[in-house]
Amino acid sequence: MIFPPSIQRWLPVMLPILAVSWWCAKAISITTSPWIDSSSTITTSPLDFNDTFDPNVTEYWFDTVVDHFNFRPTPEPTFPLRYLVNDQYYHNASSPVLFYAGNEADIFQFVNNSGFLWEAAENFQGMVVFAEHRYYGKSFPFGSPENALSPKNISYLSVEQAMADFNLLQGHIRDKWNMSRDAAFVVAGGSYGGNLALWLRLKNPNLWAGAIASSATPLKHLLRETNAFNRIVADVYRNVSHTCPDLIRQGWQELYTNVKTKHGRQRIQYEMKLCHVPERRNPRDIADEIHGWVSGALETMVQYGYPYPTNFFAPVPGYPFKLACKNMLQEQSALGALRAAAQVFYNYTGQAGDCFDWVASAAEAEENDLLVKTRKTLESTRYWNRLGQIERGVLSTHLEDLTGTAWGYQCCTEAYQPMPTNGITDFELPYQPNETEYFERCKQRWEGVVPRPTWEETMFLSDNIQAGSNIFLTSGQLDPWRAAGIQSVPRGSPDSIIVRIIENGAHHLDLRHSHPMDPPSVVEVRKEEMTAMEKWIIRWRNLYPSSIVHASEQRGQIVGQRYKPDQENAKTRISTIL
Ligand SMILES: *[C@@H]1O[C@H](CO)[C@@H](O)[C@H](O)[C@H]1NC(C)=O
Ligand SMILES: *[C@@H]1O[C@H](CO)[C@@H](O)[C@H](O)[C@H]1NC(C)=O
Ligand SMILES: *[C@@H]1O[C@H](CO)[C@@H](O)[C@H](O)[C@H]1NC(C)=O
Ligand SMILES: *[C@@H]1O[C@H](CO)[C@@H](O)[C@H](O)[C@H]1NC(C)=O
Ligand SMILES: *[C@@H]1O[C@H](CO)[C@@H](O)[C@H](O)[C@H]1NC(C)=O
Ligand SMILES: *[C@@H]1O[C@H](CO)[C@@H](O)[C@H](O)[C@H]1NC(C)=O
Ligand SMILES: *[C@@H]1O[C@H](CO)[C@@H](O)[C@H](O)[C@H]1NC(C)=O
Ligand SMILES: *[C@@H]1O[C@H](CO)[C@@H](O)[C@H](O)[C@H]1NC(C)=O
Ligand SMILES: *[C@@H]1O[C@H](CO)[C@@H](O)[C@H](O)[C@H]1NC(C)=O
Repeated sequence: MIFPPSIQRWLPVMLPILAVSWWCAKAISITTSPWIDSSSTITTSPLDFNDTFDPNVTEYWFDTVVDHFNFRPTPEPTFPLRYLVNDQYYHNASSPVLFYAGNEADIFQFVNNSGFLWEAAENFQGMVVFAEHRYYGKSFPFGSPENALSPKNISYLSVEQAMADFNLLQGHIRDKWNMSRDAAFVVAGGSYGGNLALWLRLKNPNLWAGAIASSATPLKHLLRETNAFNRIVADVYRNVSHTCPDLIRQGWQELYTNVKTKHGRQRIQYEMKLCHVPERRNPRDIADEIHGWVSGALETMVQYGYPYPTNFFAPVPGYPFKLACKNMLQEQSALGALRAAAQVFYNYTGQAGDCFDWVASAAEAEENDLLVKTRKTLESTRYWNRLGQIERGVLSTHLEDLTGTAWGYQCCTEAYQPMPTNGITDFELPYQPNETEYFERCKQRWEGVVPRPTWEETMFLSDNIQAGSNIFLTSGQLDPWRAAGIQSVPRGSPDSIIVRIIENGAHHLDLRHSHPMDPPSVVEVRKEEMTAMEKWIIRWRNLYPSSIVHASEQRGQIVGQRYKPDQENAKTRISTIL
């Protein structure tokens, strides 16, 4: 997926729900900061940024139905949906399948960040399947992304359609590999993919033996009604030092004050080491953009604040927010503190050069007509950061950003989640989303489409999941998306609904490969997940002994009773892969 540099810079701001990395530039050199206190476990060496994981997958395509909910075929009734398979641990026709329900990006994004499924596959001698979500990656109906993402043709992008794809795909895989009925499909996912995993198991326990739903966000009303998301971000920094949230708020104040005068803008440029601060634009817009640039970094360092160095949006150290906060404390001014924090995200390996050329890129984008077009649709750019997800959809009139377009549409339909902030218990600028305005913009962009705020929680039960079973829900303590997660076992749930908060865990940390620097909490949770999956697999075999003949078995050679779970091994065979 290609993003122009100017767009890449905005991605953290614009795509908060995104699960994974957009660019994977390798580190060239690493400077270890003097501010990392030697007592902490943060260590960084160039080797840590190596991505040595080889998923060893094969790409397949499955013809799915464009509209599952209308028996009258669309002019092109089907389209190819991509899925990836790793069968290196797959044993025989009764072996389980670890199925990742793809979310809003190219499916390889999730492959690269969900190594735990390979560990589970090895443990259970299972198959790994990663299914791409329709309208993302390479899975577009109507022949091309350009055709698919037009306001009319995008109509078939919905949670329900995507779930139906995965249900049908399971049948297709069972047939293709001649699987026995007693082969259990465990569905897993992170973030929106976690929602899909949860909902697939709730809706179709006849198909899915159980669900690992990591950092799922089913309780969207909590995002809309409270500042819980941004409060978690602020708490994470506050827990490093009480001073950091204050410095950030003070920084915004200095930014918005200084931007009004020529002298002030020079000060901003100097203190924040910006290559350039444009003169001809509305000062308020400039401040908004600088704010968005820093704020996006601050939030992303928390959401993806993994215990070891990673390279999602940019190369960052383990627990990058700790270093950011510590660096802020060394600065003489609040503007300097903002720069010191941003520096960890945008310049950890010295990649920025002598000054941040962000402003130059904005000017560049202006020349390309990219940002300007967006601007024209807005009364003010004040909402740039807030309505980021829609903003991307608007930006993407140019189809530079296919993922942003598709996700922008989902934010205008089911995933309606604008977040208010107060600047007191969070460190953001106070903001109250304006529903009328938001709806109006959706209507314009998608030709009449407006969100249905309560639809998703009504149709998919919100946290009223007591009637479900075999569900493992996790949230990271550090992850702001925890705000919309189910954080405790709903009253009246069976024992097989398990909820864990992972201490010192960021966004779906548990789905990542085991790592020597993992906190004990996630090591423990992965063990529990392994045990839970094993129970689900056994339960499945009891429910569907292979004497019940699956259609495919009549053609094939399959006999059942092949998977023999091994309680002891299941616990000990979790491999550690660096
Ligand atoms: C990381 O990459 C470097 C340079 O390519 C290589 O020398 C080193 O062996 C790699 N480390 C690991 C752990 O794979
Ligand atoms: C990749 O998977 C194939 C089976 O599909 C297996 O034969 C091969 O050994 C695997 N490669 C690696 C490097 O593990
Ligand atoms: C996934 O990782 C591989 C290997 O490191 C890399 O080549 C590829 O670009 C990554 N894909 C995505 C979408 O991040
Ligand atoms: C919608 O898809 C059809 C193909 O089925 C295509 O002919 C048409 O041009 C698309 N509409 C737009 C506006 O791209
Ligand atoms: C499934 O069974 C059919 C018919 O016996 C056979 O042709 C095919 O190779 C089998 N596929 C797999 C993956 O074993
Ligand atoms: C901050 O620290 C408090 C006290 O240790 C803890 O209860 C809370 O969960 C922490 N918050 C975050 C977001 O890490
Ligand atoms: C980026 O990091 C390099 C290396 O530490 C440093 O020389 C440079 O001044 C930094 N750039 C900015 C804009 O902070
Ligand atoms: C919300 O936006 C609408 C349309 O732009 C405007 O008329 C209304 O005054 C706004 N409401 C508030 C509370 O700002
Ligand atoms: C299938 O795998 C299980 C578990 O390893 C094993 O016990 C069983 O013998 C296998 N069945 C066949 C027919 O290979």
